[in-house]
Amino acid sequence: MARSGHLAVVTLSLAFLCIASILSVSEAALRASVTPVQRRSLVKNTWQNPQVYTQKCPGDGDWYSTKPKNFWSFFKSYCDPSHLPLNQWGNHSKMILDKSGIAGFGSYSAYFTGRFTMKIKLPPGNSSGTVFAFYLSSDGKKYKDHDEVDIEFLGNETGMPITMQTNIFVNGLGQREMRHNLWFDPSEAFHEYFIFWNSAMVLIGVDSIPIRVFMNNEQHGVPYLNKGQALYCSHWDGSGWATQNGRIKIDYDLNAPFVAQVKGFGRSINACRVQSERNVWACKHPGPKPFCWERPEHLYLTDNQKNLLRWVAKDHCIYDYCKDDLRWVRENMTKPLECDMLPY
Ligand SMILES: *[C@@H]1O[C@H](CO)[C@@H](O)[C@H](O)[C@H]1NC(C)=O
Ligand SMILES: *[C@@H]1O[C@H](CO)[C@@H](O)[C@H](O)[C@H]1NC(C)=O
Ligand SMILES: *[C@@H]1O[C@H](CO)[C@@H](O)[C@H](O)[C@H]1NC(C)=O
Ligand SMILES: *[C@@H]1O[C@H](CO)[C@@H](O)[C@H](O)[C@H]1NC(C)=O
Repeated sequence: MARSGHLAVVTLSLAFLCIASILSVSEAALRASVTPVQRRSLVKNTWQNPQVYTQKCPGDGDWYSTKPKNFWSFFKSYCDPSHLPLNQWGNHSKMILDKSGIAGFGSYSAYFTGRFTMKIKLPPGNSSGTVFAFYLSSDGKKYKDHDEVDIEFLGNETGMPITMQTNIFVNGLGQREMRHNLWFDPSEAFHEYFIFWNSAMVLIGVDSIPIRVFMNNEQHGVPYLNKGQALYCSHWDGSGWATQNGRIKIDYDLNAPFVAQVKGFGRSINACRVQSERNVWACKHPGPKPFCWERPEHLYLTDNQKNLLRWVAKDHCIYDYCKDDLRWVRENMTKPLECDMLPY
């Protein structure tokens, strides 16, 4: 588990997490840096008639596989399996966090580019102190220069917005946190969260609405994802930093068990599998038939996607690392290069 800077930048190492699930990351960190908090609007998305972009790849038989896939096709539990009670078909599970343990699973394989999704329903009620993470990561225990793409849901008190924090690590360096309070309550129903990653960009979103994009600006000196990564889900105790900047800790006696639900495993991974995360050559050179996620229409954002991103930034973003000017001074770091480039 790596920590960098003041913000709660938490790189998850599941094996470790299962043993020591209490994280201590400096508090008060965000308080100073978060832009004025916007209230979560529980009103439905008022976006006019969104022609939402879907990343489906028509014609690619693999999209909905003829052979049904389930949890065991891709994943294994990393923690106590009793906290991951899968149903008999392996197409739905709870992820239970309680005093006796956390829940976590990850893919057997690592991948280089593709589309990763999970249908997630967060625990209802008072989820203070909890963190639910859906993320890609290369091996951060063995190597210091790991890559990682995070979606983390930070629990909150009943009726208060669950915050979605995202981050991107390249070559071991993160510090690219963004936080959003969504336009719906993620504990009320299942939503499909996605990480789309190709040679041009990483796009993070939900239900085909883009929330955040990280463009490949390698030609302008910004490092880009370059390793194979596995897909993980975990549900754990982030008392040290998660809820209201760590002010409200988890209370197992009062609120546990925290029960999140996950499904949609069969279509979770549509990506290029690597033999080893440090050897991605074959995925970069797929031959005459490029991957569907590398088709020309996927190398640029559509106008509609750009409009949606602007809407999300305006109405739902509560923290953007690129706008946190005080942080570079406080943490004695240089402002990431991409912050001075066009966002898309
Ligand atoms: C899981 O599979 C069973 C059997 O095919 C099906 O009846 C059920 O609706 C599926 N559940 C989910 C959550 O997809
Ligand atoms: C929790 O709710 C408070 C109060 O509405 C809000 O400021 C905060 O952004 C929410 N999220 C977290 C993770 O604390
Ligand atoms: C939610 O739980 C926390 C402990 O995690 C507690 O301090 C807080 O008072 C609870 N909030 C409500 C509204 O019950
Ligand atoms: C800030 O970082 C620079 C370069 O890494 C280092 O030389 C300097 O000592 C640091 N200053 C403080 C106050 O940590």
